[in-house]
Amino acid sequence: MTLKEMIGESNRIVFFGGAGVSTESGIPDFRSADGIYSGKHTIPPEVILSADFFYSRTEEFYQFYREKMLCLSAKPNAAHSKLAEWEKAGKLIGVVTQNIDGLHQSAGSQKVFELHGSVHRNYCLRCKKQYSAEFILNSDGVPRCTCGGIIKPDVVLYGEPLDGDTIEGAVNAIQSADMLLIAGTSLSVYPAAGFVRYFKGKHSVLINRDETPYDHECELVVHGKLGEVLGNL
Ligand code: APR
Repeated sequence: MTLKEMIGESNRIVFFGGAGVSTESGIPDFRSADGIYSGKHTIPPEVILSADFFYSRTEEFYQFYREKMLCLSAKPNAAHSKLAEWEKAGKLIGVVTQNIDGLHQSAGSQKVFELHGSVHRNYCLRCKKQYSAEFILNSDGVPRCTCGGIIKPDVVLYGEPLDGDTIEGAVNAIQSADMLLIAGTSLSVYPAAGFVRYFKGKHSVLINRDETPYDHECELVVHGKLGEVLGNL
């Protein structure tokens, strides 16, 4: 069965995506050769993006975070648009993403489960006042609230738990899907990567440039560029 045929006969599609969904929007992924984690770093990025580092070396965290994690000029690509189109057509019931860039919502997707949070939500640790990603990008050093408290991005850092309601929503969607489309992810970070195992429906498809540990469990595997594959449907 072709991808087109599977999509044609499915009306409860769930999309499960990662950083590879946004590379065609100009946002580097993490583990590809040109990813954020590759190349020379004095401190491993996974250490910088941890809760311990955020609370103990906040200024250095923000230096890395502003430079590497805030790509606010990026626009949704053909993949984001196609998913929003399927949702409008009543074929897709949810997007589960590990990305924090908000591009699915910018493309018009309504039902988005952001497992690792979003750069667009930032809050004061003291009074909980909310701030925009632009405020963080344009601030210097450690961004401070008007009350003097430190502002933290609402993104899941290494060592932090995922949001319970988001997990519940994502797992429920995957469990009730008739088709699971996994794309642009190395499926190497847990618990997120483990959620695909809740799928019990008919069609499981994986579209990823590189191989993943889950390739052999999917009905169809396409090694290609997601924006191109979905754009050509
Ligand atoms: N089309 C299809 N696949 C792509 C594309 C593309 N245009 N660009 C990259 N890829 C694939 C790569 O081959 C790679 O396997 O996307 C995958 C991206 O994998 P990672 O860089 O590991 O990103 P991701 O799986 O989202 O990482 C999960 O790790 O550091 C944490 O919190 C961070 O959410 C992130 C998590």
